[in-house]
Amino acid sequence: MRLPDGYRLVNLPRVDSTNAEALRRAAEGAPHGTVVLAAEQTAGRGRRGRSWLPAPGNLYMTVLVRPPAGHAAAQLSFVAAVALGEAMDRETDFRFKWPNDLLAGGRKIAGILIEADGEAAAVGIGVNAARTPDGVSDTAADLGGRIDAATLCARICSTFDRWYRRWLDEGFGPVRDAWLSRATGLGEVVSVRSARGTVSGRFDRLTANGAMVLVDASGIETEIAAGEVFFGRRACC
Ligand code: BTN
Repeated sequence: MRLPDGYRLVNLPRVDSTNAEALRRAAEGAPHGTVVLAAEQTAGRGRRGRSWLPAPGNLYMTVLVRPPAGHAAAQLSFVAAVALGEAMDRETDFRFKWPNDLLAGGRKIAGILIEADGEAAAVGIGVNAARTPDGVSDTAADLGGRIDAATLCARICSTFDRWYRRWLDEGFGPVRDAWLSRATGLGEVVSVRSARGTVSGRFDRLTANGAMVLVDASGIETEIAAGEVFFGRRACC
């Protein structure tokens, strides 16, 4: 597999979680650009303490990064999303869903989980490259094996490296613009369920840190840094 200069691959048949493995290696001094790729995950981790369900042939990978001090981890998840989107663009018509899901046909086809430990961050990416895992068929989509996991991993490393450098050189602006150009729900009324409750409003923009800004009918703005988005006014069904 051809990777960008400075990247190196740790290719495993099986691991608990590629994020966990990357963070273990980070603690032992693994450098920026270490890529953990696994054919199988036995304890894949999702956002908000959820599990990431496996299916044979899907992509599980983590890029270990060591951003210079002062670079917000919240922005990094958008860097990863934009890079993932660029790598997937030839395979499917996707949209971004805040904060960093990829949807195809309105269903989730890929997810990103950033976990930081000290100055190292594990950028974990899961893509349903082969099939939708059992148990999520109502809400998830897949690429049906149109591209194999290793090829997609190499492509993601190359788009990620480019967007990561651009972020360091030019800041968050270009990343945010690229994300907004394919965002789902922008300008529409959405509901976001967070630790502070559920807030509804028109999805107006992203802040400099990637928080979502909702505007309600009276023009009052609410910034939301973390939560689960639902389209329309109802928080759930
Ligand atoms: C989400 O909940 O949407 C995020 C899912 C992230 C899953 C990937 S699979 C590779 C990496 N290792 C993990 O344990 N999780 C991420």
